[in-house]
Order: sequence, then C-alpha cells, then structure tokens
Amino acid sequence: MPDTLVSPELTKRQFQQISEQVYRLCGIYLPAGKEGLVKSRLMKRLRALRLQSFDQYLHYIEQDRSGQELVAMVEVLTTNKTSFFREAQHFDYLRRYVFPTMRHPSQRVRFWSAGCSSGEEPFSLAIVLCEAFPDIAQRDIRILATDIATRMLQKAREAIYEQDVLREVPAILLQKYFTCIRYQPPRAYRLNDTVRALVRFARLNLMDPWPMKGPFDVIFCRNVMIYFDRPTQQRLVQRFWELLKPGGYLLVGHSESLSAIVHPFRYVQPAVYVK
Ligand SMILES: C[S@@+](CC[C@H](N)C(=O)[O-])C[C@H]1O[C@@H](n2cnc3c(N)ncnc32)[C@H](O)[C@@H]1O
Repeated sequence: MPDTLVSPELTKRQFQQISEQVYRLCGIYLPAGKEGLVKSRLMKRLRALRLQSFDQYLHYIEQDRSGQELVAMVEVLTTNKTSFFREAQHFDYLRRYVFPTMRHPSQRVRFWSAGCSSGEEPFSLAIVLCEAFPDIAQRDIRILATDIATRMLQKAREAIYEQDVLREVPAILLQKYFTCIRYQPPRAYRLNDTVRALVRFARLNLMDPWPMKGPFDVIFCRNVMIYFDRPTQQRLVQRFWELLKPGGYLLVGHSESLSAIVHPFRYVQPAVYVK
C-alpha cells in the first residue's frame, strides 16, 4: 500500500456516521459545516493506519473491539488549546474571595479541573495555591485534573514545557517553581515536585459515570462545554452541582455562559457561578 494517499472524499453519510460516533462517545457535537475540519484532521488517522478511504476507516473503527481507535479519533478531533494563567480573572477571583475562606490549617479543600488538557490549567491553580498557602505541603489541599485525551494527560504528567508555552508565567514564578532542563533554544522547563504533588491526573470521559464522590470546593470546566450541545451541557452542569459543596464554585470559560440553559447556580460574575 502506498505511503501517501490521494485525499479521499468524505461523503455526507460518512460525515454523519463520524459525528454520531463522536457525539455518542464524548458529547462533542459536530454540526454540518465542519466537514472540512473533520476531513483534514482525520487524514492523520487514515495515514497512520494506511487506509485509503473513510469507509475503510469507519469499518476499522467498527471492528476495533478495544475502542482505542474511537478514542484516537476523538483526540484528533478535539481542540486541546490551553495556556498557563488563561482567563486570569478566575485566579484573581480565587485569590481575593475564595482562598480567604480556606484559611483553617486542617480544612479539606478539593479542586477539580475537568478537561485539563496538557496540564496548564491545574498547574496554574497549583502555583497560585502555593503562593497563597506557603505551608501547603502540610495542608489537605488537592487538585484532581481529568481529561478524555490520553496523549494530553501524558504531557501533563511529564510537566515539561517549552519557553513559548511559559510566556504567561511571570519571571519570578518561573524561577521559583520551574527548573530549566534544556538551555539551548527552545529552552525547556520542568515544573518542580512541590507543585506537581498537588495535582493528580486521571483519564475521565465527562459523559461516563464519575468515580469520585467529592464534594469539591471549586470545579473548573473551562472551554470544554463549548463543544457540547445544550442538553449535554445542561446534564453536565447539573452533575457538577451535585458534586459541589454548598457555597462551592463552578468556573466556566469566558466565552461560555450558562444563560442558555436551565441550572440551579447563582451567577456571581462572568464565568463564575456559586452553589
Ligand atoms: C480547549 S481544551 C480546554 C483546556 C482548559 N480547560 C483550558 O480552558 O485551557 C478542551 C479539553 O476538553 C477535553 N474534552 C473534550 N471532551 C471531553 C469529554 N467528553 N470528557 C473529558 N474531556 C473532554 C479535550 O480533550 C480538551 O483537552
């Protein structure tokens, strides 16, 4: 079979079948109009598997009892874009209003970064916590970070970032919490163990049952629900509510508002909701 392949056609039926599979597995809604994107991203999988057509690919997925290819498909179709201290207002809000309520040294405090991608979100939170609680190693403060994408979780667990990814990290924090492990450009830095120890990464498809009992003080689910349709968002937000403590916070992306769905949360400020 040749290595290169002439771009095969993605028919309406094939697109529909693919979008149904993706929706069933992970709630991501691929509306008509996304054919170009789906095709270009899935070409990577066709090439890797040396398949000639999307029908062959769909057949391959059907035969794959491990379900691994379906996951690989979802991984190439999802956007993992993230950054350190993304949407900084959330971290300011936590510092000003939420951390002061967590001052008791024996207080159990739990955060969840749901859809954590390659770790920048939970690690930003961990750094902010280290700054706010110098005795954090003695405290019962933990962050759970989950994602559906195994490749992203692997990156997150390595906790090695190149300098361009770290541009939003202030120099003083870079010096305090990272160690340079490659000096020649592009420089690479590893996050120090004290920060890493606060975060536990686990694979979790948000559409599946959740093994954790909570309750959580704060849940981050930022720039994830944007890919789901309304009924899926509504179910998810209700499940977040059930896992939060009374007075706990749900933080969503700034381009996502809960205003289009019915939910029991109280709006605090853009992208911040309280139970
Ligand atoms: C755009 S990133 C957002 C990362 C981070 N929360 C942020 O705001 O920077 C969206 C992440 O959601 C994950 N995701 C999408 N669908 C998911 C699902 N059904 N279950 C768990 N994670 C999912 C993707 O793998 C991706 O890493």
